[in-house]
Amino acid sequence: MKTIGVNALLVAAVPGEAQMQAIYMDETQPIELRVKDALSRMTLEEKVGLCYAQSKFSSRGVQRLGIPEVWMDDGPMGVREENKWDEWGGAGFTNDSCTAFPALTCLAATWNPEMAAIYGKALGEEFRYREKDVMLGPGVNIYRTPLNGRNFEYMGEDPKLAATMVVPYIKEAQKNGVATCVKHFALNNQETWRSGVDVQLSDRALYEIYLPAFKAAIVEGGSWTIMGSYNKIRGTYASHNDLTLNKILKEEWGFDGCVITDWGGAHDTKEAVLNGLDIEMGSYTNGLSTGRAFAYSDYYLADAYLKGLKSGIYPMSSIEDKASRILRLIFRTAMNRHKPWGSFASPEHAAVARMVGAEGIVLLKNEPLKKKESALLPLDGSLYKKILVVGENATRRLTEGGGSASLKAKEEISPLAALQAKYGDKIQYTMGYASGPSVYGREGKPAFNTDSLRVQAIEMAKDADLIVYIGGLNKNHRQDCEDGDRKSLDLPFEQDVLINALTAVNPKIVMVLLSGNAVAMPWIKQVPSIVQGWYLGSQAGNALVDVLSGAVNPSGKLPFSFPVKLTDCGAHAFGEEGYPGLADTKIETYKEDILVGYRWHDTKNIPSLFPFGHGLSYTTFKYSKASISAKSIEKDGTLTVTIPVTNTGKVAGKEVVQLYIGDVKCSVLRPLKELKSFQKIALAPGATEQVQFTIKNDDLCFFDEVKHAWVSEAGAFKVYIGSSSTDIRAMLDFELK
Ligand code: GLC
Repeated sequence: MKTIGVNALLVAAVPGEAQMQAIYMDETQPIELRVKDALSRMTLEEKVGLCYAQSKFSSRGVQRLGIPEVWMDDGPMGVREENKWDEWGGAGFTNDSCTAFPALTCLAATWNPEMAAIYGKALGEEFRYREKDVMLGPGVNIYRTPLNGRNFEYMGEDPKLAATMVVPYIKEAQKNGVATCVKHFALNNQETWRSGVDVQLSDRALYEIYLPAFKAAIVEGGSWTIMGSYNKIRGTYASHNDLTLNKILKEEWGFDGCVITDWGGAHDTKEAVLNGLDIEMGSYTNGLSTGRAFAYSDYYLADAYLKGLKSGIYPMSSIEDKASRILRLIFRTAMNRHKPWGSFASPEHAAVARMVGAEGIVLLKNEPLKKKESALLPLDGSLYKKILVVGENATRRLTEGGGSASLKAKEEISPLAALQAKYGDKIQYTMGYASGPSVYGREGKPAFNTDSLRVQAIEMAKDADLIVYIGGLNKNHRQDCEDGDRKSLDLPFEQDVLINALTAVNPKIVMVLLSGNAVAMPWIKQVPSIVQGWYLGSQAGNALVDVLSGAVNPSGKLPFSFPVKLTDCGAHAFGEEGYPGLADTKIETYKEDILVGYRWHDTKNIPSLFPFGHGLSYTTFKYSKASISAKSIEKDGTLTVTIPVTNTGKVAGKEVVQLYIGDVKCSVLRPLKELKSFQKIALAPGATEQVQFTIKNDDLCFFDEVKHAWVSEAGAFKVYIGSSSTDIRAMLDFELK
């Protein structure tokens, strides 16, 4: 007896249907019709079944109707290794070693939206190849404190930079039929007490600083999912929060996709039902290493929800909405037959990792040791016989560790290997310091004796012609790692002692910091060249040596400020209540309000060590006289600002021309200046580009808490054009009528 396929049964079951596909399966039908049709065929149990996990990284489809499951995976910089079904830990697959792309701080540091598009496309292809429907990233939480363990996963301190960089990443990634899941929404700006801290802040800080990157991701980027964060916001957990999920995300921004909890972010059925949550993942787990076995039927949106629907406690409209959103997600991803095929760990993706890495590296300092001498960078090998490389980060794998962003990379070119490839046997190496293994939840003890490592390094430094120090932070617990913050701004593992000792015996030192956060630099005057190198992924060494050697002229700019000391940061200027929150109530109040990062440094007149937007080049750029198209602007008008920029050096280079706007007089406190636009230009030696910016009323607004609306006040405004937030090359005045 020939078995009749499911479809044929279905079609037969649907009265009046000719021999056609069921509507929900027919991709020529509008998606909303398909949703309606699928819903009409599903039982209540099947609808509720969509709303919570069936395994560590997947949620149900509808087997009976041929509606596929939803497969998710981390993370923002690469496809995480396949996880076991129901517990944390790699499943030991042999086909899941990926391309590790640079950390998102590095992508942000390129200040180049084209790079974000290329990055998002390549990453989306890797997730597509691995047959994932949702990639759990990108992260755009604002860099409020340099101690936050996960800043490396995010895009810096400024909402405009993060908003501009996240949109192309999302658009290109989703063209692969893979949903992005912008995270962690919202106010997850630290890892200390991440699942319990209760963030209190003003509406101005919320709307002007912490929401814009998420709004851009949803409204301009069109992200199909978003992740609710662990923390509380004004007393309610972010993964089921009426203000952020219903009022702001779904009503104000018109979001039609799915809210997915962070793993373990759900804590209450009623709130999960009514406050905008759609898919509950990882409940009863700490999101990293522990959890209850096979707890799925106990999930807040599982049996308790089904029971509540049947008994009338919860409105049927709630499940219709949730199931509609999840079906929409499935039709866009798992049931999307037009998806490209993706590719995985390919040479093309390695090239993307290398290109983005090199473009994001920031040259912080590069001054000649003596007048008339040239600076140490770019590194001309012919000048040296012995180049001593010092530092554990020259060889340590930095794609591993750090929490859920940890990757099983197919390759990781170390800085040492790349230096040896480039400079041959001129290169010598000594570890200099040791940090110990990266293990979750506890600080690993170094396997080596740090003193003896230091003594050896100093000995070798005495007769080296040049020292290339490669240190910084790493992915250990309480370094750049999830579920813990650093305890201080200082370099760890006694590196400051080592660096001082090295500079004492040999002043020719190039400092390379690989990190996702700012660090204190007590030795800054003794070090002539400093490079901020980020976590660069699979092509780390090649990207770094491309810049150190001058093959690539550095053009990265800092996406966050480097403070001189911790208390120079707004988050650390108001005691425990400001960070990490009060120990008893876990209430944390963002008392610096809108003055985050350079906004704080500018307004409080506290100079940073290196300012937001700072980054040098191997060439020089001259900014000539700026002009403005009018001295005043109506609310519905626009202004054009033009400034000629010339490459006055000997090598081609890229410059990020930044435009900040300051409201000279306003009824509320506003920062001295705020980034409103930027353009990255490439210039051959001697070439000039007329860089143009358009200013409109939106660029002048602040969020009025009384009117609950963006408003601009007539009066004087200042335009600052700069090569960083403090290196201002032109200022212009205009009036808002
Ligand atoms: C983790 C992280 C989140 C990640 C998720 C799944 O705890 O907070 O970023 O995507 O759980 O691993």
